Amino acid sequence: MTAMGQQRWVVVTGASSGIGREISLSLYQHNYRVIATARSDEDLAQLQRLGLTSCRLELADAASVSQVIEQVTTLCGNDLYALINNAAYGQPGAVEDIRRDTLEQQFAVNLFGTHQLTVGLLPALKQGQGGRLVNISSVLGLVAFPWQGAYNASKFALEGLTDTLRLELHNSPVKVSLIEPGPIRSQFRHNALGAFEKDIAWQDSRHAEDYRRITSYYAATEHPTPFTGSPALVVKRVLHALHSTRPQPRYYVTLPTYVLATCRRLLPWRWLDRLLVKLGAMR
Ligand SMILES: NC(=O)c1ccc[n+]([C@@H]2O[C@H](COP(=O)([O-])OP(=O)(O)OC[C@H]3O[C@@H](n4cnc5c(N)ncnc54)[C@H](OP(=O)(O)O)[C@@H]3O)[C@@H](O)[C@H]2O)c1
Repeated sequence: MTAMGQQRWVVVTGASSGIGREISLSLYQHNYRVIATARSDEDLAQLQRLGLTSCRLELADAASVSQVIEQVTTLCGNDLYALINNAAYGQPGAVEDIRRDTLEQQFAVNLFGTHQLTVGLLPALKQGQGGRLVNISSVLGLVAFPWQGAYNASKFALEGLTDTLRLELHNSPVKVSLIEPGPIRSQFRHNALGAFEKDIAWQDSRHAEDYRRITSYYAATEHPTPFTGSPALVVKRVLHALHSTRPQPRYYVTLPTYVLATCRRLLPWRWLDRLLVKLGAMR
C-alpha cells in the first residue's frame, strides 16, 4: 500500500509456472495489483481467473516487449512500484555444440528482452516514492557449469548489466536487487530438455555420452535432488527486496548457492574448476 492507501502495481514476467507464478500469487495475497505476463492463451486466461491482470509477453520479440511497456504504463498510470524480471529459459549443450542462432535466442530472451522491458519501465519505476527492480538470476550467474554455456553466459551478462544499472541508479529512487536461486522445483528442467532436443544435434557430438546422462537428470524433474528447494524460498527474498527500506543487492537462495558463491570467493580458480567439473559430471 502507498501512504495514500492505494494498492501498488507490480509486474512479474514468466508467471505461467514455477517461480514467477508463485511470486505473482504471493504478491496478490500481499495486496499488490499484479500484472503477470505469460505467452499462451490458456496461461493468460488462468492468471486472469486467479485475479491477476495478465499481459502477453514474448521476450524474444521486440514488438511484444514494446506493447507490454505501453499496456503497463497505461494500466498503472505511469506509477509502477516494482518490476520482477523472472522469465527465462535454460539452453543446455556444450559450447562447441551450440549454433550461433541458438545462442542468440538464449540472449534474446534472457538478456535483450529483459533489458528492453526494464529500460521501458524505468520512467514509471522512478515515479512515486521509490520503485524496486528485482532480477531473478541464478547460481549459474555466479559460477559456470559444464554443458550450460549459453545459459551461464546469459546469466553472467544479466549480473553485469544489473550491477551496472544499480550503480547508475544509486541516486535515483529505484533500488535494484539480484536473486540467485540454486535448484528450485519448477518447469525449468522440463523446458530445458525441450530446448536441448530442439536445438542440439547431440547424436553427432563427442559429448553424446555426457548428454545421455544430463538428459536423464533433466527428465527426472519429479525426483529432485535433496538440495532442490521450493519456489516459496525465492518468494521470501522477493518480499524482502520489495518491503525493506534497504534491500540487498544480492539474495542467495538454497544451500548450493551459498556454498558455490563462497567457493568462488575463497578458492583459487584451478581448484574451483576442479570442483565444478566434478559437480558437472555428477549430473
Ligand atoms: N528452477 C530452477 O532451478 C532455477 C534455478 C536458478 C534460477 N532460475 C531462474 O528462475 C526464473 C524462473 O524459472 P522457473 O524455474 O520458474 O522456470 P519455469 O517454470 O520454466 O518458468 C519460466 C517462465 O519464463 C517464461 N518464458 C520462457 N521463455 C520465455 C520467452 N521467450 N518470453 C517470455 N516468457 C518466457 C515461461 O513461459 P512459458 O510457460 O510460456 O514457457 C515461464 O513462465 C528464471 O529466470 C530462471 O533462470 C531457476
